[in-house]
Amino acid sequence: MTDYKQMYQAKLTSADELAARVESGWLIGMDAGAAQTPEIMSAVAKRAYADEIKDVKVQTLLDVYPLEFYADQNLKGKITGCSWFSSGGARKAINGGWADFIPAYYRDIPKYVRSLYDYDVFCVSVSPMDKHGYFSLGTTSSYSQAMLEKSKRIFLEVNENQPRAVNGLQIHISQVDGLVEANYKLPVLPPTVIDDVSQTIGNLIAERIPDGACIQLGIGAVPDATGMALKNKHDLGIHTEMFTDSMVELIECGAVNNSKKQIHRGISVTTFAYGSQRIYDFIDDNPGIAFMPVDYVNDPDVICRNDNVISINAALEVDLWGQVCSESIGTKHMSGSGGQIDYVRGACQSKGGKSFIAFPSTAKGGEISKIKSTLTTGAVCTTSKNDVDYIVTEYGVAQLRGRSLSDRAKQLIAIAHPNFRDELSFEAKKRGILI
Ligand code: COA
Repeated sequence: MTDYKQMYQAKLTSADELAARVESGWLIGMDAGAAQTPEIMSAVAKRAYADEIKDVKVQTLLDVYPLEFYADQNLKGKITGCSWFSSGGARKAINGGWADFIPAYYRDIPKYVRSLYDYDVFCVSVSPMDKHGYFSLGTTSSYSQAMLEKSKRIFLEVNENQPRAVNGLQIHISQVDGLVEANYKLPVLPPTVIDDVSQTIGNLIAERIPDGACIQLGIGAVPDATGMALKNKHDLGIHTEMFTDSMVELIECGAVNNSKKQIHRGISVTTFAYGSQRIYDFIDDNPGIAFMPVDYVNDPDVICRNDNVISINAALEVDLWGQVCSESIGTKHMSGSGGQIDYVRGACQSKGGKSFIAFPSTAKGGEISKIKSTLTTGAVCTTSKNDVDYIVTEYGVAQLRGRSLSDRAKQLIAIAHPNFRDELSFEAKKRGILI
């Protein structure tokens, strides 16, 4: 029998030694959030600072570590980051002009990874090796399988704080080219502050969610508040892109048991997890949660196979036609489409399903209405007027799908902040859409 521990020892090295193998012009792949390898990347950055390498490109998604090539514009041309969905440092670097962004539906990324790119190395954080020689990718499935297939080499950061997802992607020691042990704590999201406005919105949505529904919750305070407002429901299921703290709460309080799902009954399905330490503890050795590739989890034709799918996502602004911008403030880049459209479509195709886009009626301390006559110049339309379903603010719920422009404008003005309703009505009349 092969001695996996011996293979492990033979491949065990330091981050500096792995970085020394990186050559100018390489394309490095990493996956989402806590799957990334900050120690290896810091060692690669050291070589770039020393002018030993240049023209290295790194693809990332949901950037939660302070990666040097996003934090420091002096690395432009030496290491250039390119994000599929930016946050944190990547957002600043993209707006500053020293990092790039690839627009995509999240579900399509594995297809692009397989068809458009060849990676010199895939760097990924994993949990310690099991007795069969396997490492679990822990918090992430996402597009890692595609990167494993398209990468010439695999470098691991083996981290004892990375949970072992028994129903998730595994890498075998025989596939690995080099590994380091790096036992830092995984990144955690600061706890969400659920204020009165988010709570009101969460309650409005919760009233419209039946027992037995299958839920997806997006990123932000409003999806979190909605999750917490579902604690008195029964027999809920989870099929979601991102697994969140409020989902752990719903499982542990008994509101979620996945008993009414048509597919993956009894199991919560996701493609990555990000939140507090509580999530990582929950995932560890837990057969009740499955991490599956995003081209499956986010496929609207898969999502809709469950009945009563309810998707809840946030937005930055919405115009009176119901066009939803969730990824820019005018031309200022904020994030990406992620899985928003996948879940809007999947939910609306599901028998009894509904999609909610929810947000406070104003931003910047009440100065700006998030319901606008037209989207701000340069704003990205994330969810189209043809796809949008329910829009929710603390002033109520608008149901737009299948409704006329005039009906939409009236409903949206009614849930805008009272300070902006006259101005919005004036604009709508001027544009001839209030009839
Ligand atoms: N005009 C100007 N500024 C605005 C604004 C507007 N219309 N709306 C929000 N802002 C500001 C906020 O004040 C805040 O500023 P701050 O950082 O200085 O406090 C910032 O923009 C972020 O807004 P916030 O509402 O706090 O964002 P969030 O953390 O709740 O995230 C999205 C909201 C839309 C950015 C996030 O949900 C996203 O990226 N969505 C796209 C992908 C998606 O939906 N995926 C779903 C599957 S997981």
